[in-house]
Amino acid sequence: MTGRLEGKIALITGVGGGIGVTAARRFAAEGARVVGCDIDRDSAAATEKLVRAEGGEITVMGGVDLGDAEEARSWVDAAVATYDGIDILYNNASTQRFAPIEELSVQDWDFTMRNELNLVFYTVKAAWPHLKSCGGGSVINVGSIAALRGVEFMAQNAHSTAKGGVIALTLQLVVEGGPHGIRANVISPGLTETPNTAPMLADPPERMRKVVLDRIPLGRHGQPEDIVNAAVFLASDESSWISGANIVVDGGGSVLG
Ligand SMILES: NC(=O)c1ccc[n+]([C@@H]2O[C@H](COP(=O)([O-])OP(=O)(O)OC[C@H]3O[C@@H](n4cnc5c(N)ncnc54)[C@H](O)[C@@H]3O)[C@@H](O)[C@H]2O)c1
Repeated sequence: MTGRLEGKIALITGVGGGIGVTAARRFAAEGARVVGCDIDRDSAAATEKLVRAEGGEITVMGGVDLGDAEEARSWVDAAVATYDGIDILYNNASTQRFAPIEELSVQDWDFTMRNELNLVFYTVKAAWPHLKSCGGGSVINVGSIAALRGVEFMAQNAHSTAKGGVIALTLQLVVEGGPHGIRANVISPGLTETPNTAPMLADPPERMRKVVLDRIPLGRHGQPEDIVNAAVFLASDESSWISGANIVVDGGGSVLG
């Protein structure tokens, strides 16, 4: 590792999940002091243990439901207090529900907005005054190629809308954050292999294989490292004049109509 995040204080959400584990490990390996969280206590504790065993500096709070504004604020405040500041807020956590428009219940819609969009608003709102008082920082929000196009194999009505909202919110953060040295960018992953997606990728529905997987110009689906590589760049000073980017990390698949 090259110490690209040496000494930086990085808040990362959803570190118990597929890409979040890799993010926590890599940020710590690059020298960041990481404060993570996850709604799931066991996976949160497992990530903390893993990263510490690798020699990384990390504190992870489990049982934090970021879809609740007060819990999100408490986590951010506690995280900022842990290392007395904040340089990076990486909004990785999300959960969603899928259904065709006629079957999508209002509850499923609300659940998805809460757990994909509202939680980003809550953590950013809580972190904003701290970022300002620290002289700036990097906000990394996770969108998705789902926000860029419709698909025939997944009923992503609520999911794509929420991720579209994350992208739109980020654009305004760019404008309001600039004068304070706060940068805000999006990473939009394509289909990435995690414990949740691995079974589907091992035996993909015919439609998905034909429409998506066989049409990725770079010839493979994503790995968590592919996404986290972009996050390290956006978190580091190498991207110090980049704000408002939406880095699509999908092997080139989304450029095909
Ligand atoms: N894996 C993919 O193919 C893919 C594709 C496009 C975008 N993404 C995005 O990348 C990010 C990470 O995806 P992943 O595949 O690792 O997901 P994942 O489901 O494996 O992990 C997400 C983590 O977030 C946590 N979480 C969810 N809701 C929470 C809440 N309210 N409060 C606190 N923690 C919460 C979950 O417990 C889980 O550990 C997500 O934003 C996802 O939408 C993933």
